Amino acid sequence: MHYQFPHNFWWGSASSAPQTEGDSLNGGKSATIWDHWFSQQPSRFHQQIGPAETSGFYRHWREDIALLKQLNHNSFRTSLSWARLIPDGSGAVNPQAVSFYNQLIDELLAQGITPFINLFHFDMPLVMQQAGGWENREVVNAYARYADHCFQLFGDRVKHWFTFNEPIVPVEGGYLYDFHYPNVVDFRRAATVAYHTMLAHALAVKNYRQRQQGGEIGIILNLTPSYARSEHPADKQAANIADLMFNRSFLDPALRGSYPPELLTLLKRHQQLPLCQPGDSELLAAGVVDLLGINYYQPRRIKCRDSLVNPDSPFMPEWFFDHYEMPGRKMNPYRGWEIYEPGIYDILTLLRENYGNPRCFISENGMGVENEQRFAQHGQIQDDYRIEFVREHLQWLHRGIAEGSNCLGYHMWTFIDNWSWCNAYKNRYGFVQLDLASQQRSIKKSGEWFARTAAENGFPVNIFP
Ligand code: FCB
Repeated sequence: MHYQFPHNFWWGSASSAPQTEGDSLNGGKSATIWDHWFSQQPSRFHQQIGPAETSGFYRHWREDIALLKQLNHNSFRTSLSWARLIPDGSGAVNPQAVSFYNQLIDELLAQGITPFINLFHFDMPLVMQQAGGWENREVVNAYARYADHCFQLFGDRVKHWFTFNEPIVPVEGGYLYDFHYPNVVDFRRAATVAYHTMLAHALAVKNYRQRQQGGEIGIILNLTPSYARSEHPADKQAANIADLMFNRSFLDPALRGSYPPELLTLLKRHQQLPLCQPGDSELLAAGVVDLLGINYYQPRRIKCRDSLVNPDSPFMPEWFFDHYEMPGRKMNPYRGWEIYEPGIYDILTLLRENYGNPRCFISENGMGVENEQRFAQHGQIQDDYRIEFVREHLQWLHRGIAEGSNCLGYHMWTFIDNWSWCNAYKNRYGFVQLDLASQQRSIKKSGEWFARTAAENGFPVNIFP
């Protein structure tokens, strides 16, 4: 018996410009909020390793694409860097960036690897942040112009575009919980940032369609199933609020072109509705995607806090619920996140039943491991835990597809160990091990397993690994 996947299934992995390119301030690139924040507060970063210390994709791209080929990827996602392409955020295009991205795209295609290109992966150009970031509608327009440049420059060859990766993360990190720059903690501002991000998304989608380049455009959302920890009505209600805040506030505009009325009622009750302008609803409606990327890592386990509704403003979702850890659940022993494979199936079922079964794919799934070097034998990381992790998620994915889900592929986070937001190299995620000092790359055991799986378009049930 074999877990066989549909013909032309996308096998690959995902990465991003800010986490891999390096050369943060070379090649005409300007600073992003990450370069800036690191220069201001290096102690906020694990071992004080900042965004300049990457796997150096800007220089090693040819070697890396050869590795992707060796891993039998038929598709690969990375992002373009706004700060590299348009250093002042809204003006002239940087020719060095154009030439870099042209070479990259051409080489991927030459190797038979379909490029999936994302336009924004948490890396706001500093100049744009200084102008107010997503709180400023001018930045929304500047983003749309940047997106348009990308379509015009690369759209003849790139046929799978994404406007944003995990748009909730800069909202949570930058405006609610202080784990990203600009380290604001303010629900009202967070709501505005979230809203304007989706307007920017819709504008890019609309402009892309007008170009009629024969490709598709989508968004990548980290969908985090929110399960109540008990049957208690308060826990269930809190889980519903978490779902509204963290999933449906992006999922509904992306798939239905509008916000869930329940979310609007909730925000209104707490006087936290962002300011709208005439024409916004029509614009949002134009942002319905062709393709949804789903990043899935772990679910939320929701327990209501003492009072379900805190009448005081400012409103913070954390007052409503605790999440994540739940005693008795399977945990990743090397990082501390819960591992719950059926979550992937639940997401597909939800999309099928409530959202008209959209074209989608798993755009990230993965397992971070601390001190992974300890698993090296004869120079290779023996990451059987990662093989098991991927295999078990794929089994649930397979089941979703068998039941009719329109899921077209599986991309792993990530191809090569890379720099993570604040955690730097604390957790390793790659199919390929990176020696940061020597920049040497070595394929892990999981990479070999994945290459076989991709080549066979599936894997046998009983033989592990
Ligand atoms: C996701 C991000 C990605 C990476 C993984 C581990 O939330 O999209 O950039 O950091 O987590």
